[in-house]
Amino acid sequence: MNRPILVSASLLGCGLGTLAQEIKKIEAAGSDWLHFDVMDGIFVPNISFGQPVLKAAKKAANTPIDTHLMITDPIRYIDDFVKAGSDLVTFHVESTDDADAVIDRIHKNGAKAGISIKPNTPAEAIEKYIGSVEMVLVMTVEPGFGGQGFISETVPKIAQVRKMVGASGREVYIEVDGGINAETAKICRDAGANVLVSGSYFFAAQDKAAAVRAVKGM
Ligand code: DX5
Ligand code: ZN
Repeated sequence: MNRPILVSASLLGCGLGTLAQEIKKIEAAGSDWLHFDVMDGIFVPNISFGQPVLKAAKKAANTPIDTHLMITDPIRYIDDFVKAGSDLVTFHVESTDDADAVIDRIHKNGAKAGISIKPNTPAEAIEKYIGSVEMVLVMTVEPGFGGQGFISETVPKIAQVRKMVGASGREVYIEVDGGINAETAKICRDAGANVLVSGSYFFAAQDKAAAVRAVKGM
């Protein structure tokens, strides 16, 4: 069980007016990745930001950008989001009828691919893609807003995905997103997650390096 535990700080929680400085602070605190939440107001009932903000983030970033697409029919925007600076692009299995085509498109653009499930979507929905993705994102809140409470019913699904990944013999990251703090992070790590998205917990912390260590369990 020596898999690395990574923190991906969610830019949804930071001040966009000083994005470049915020990114420097996030990276100085020891966050491994930058999580970039894209919402279209259709797949989720909220709108966040898109490629122009991602380009600005990329200019300031020294760590990989982990883009989380919460948009309908994501294949339309894969090329744009990789060009704008995503190192990894995650989309929702619920948002497309052809997940294989989306995964291919991400790979053809030279990025890593992730597939995500909402809290009420069973792990079986992504089982057949474990052989072709680099990450599975198990949502631990309903996607759309930061600052929500962790849904503990999602924990058995994290363990189920960990088993599926183990059975595949592949190295696939398991990311969790939503309501992650020191306590819920431990629950998720114990269930098999190894990439922890942190938004409001990280940004509310006075000591951000300590928050990163707490989420990692260090
Ligand atoms: C929610 C987003 C999350 C959000 C997490 O739809 O996908 O990435 O920023 O924020 P917290 O950590 O506050 O739940
Ligand atoms: Zn997210």
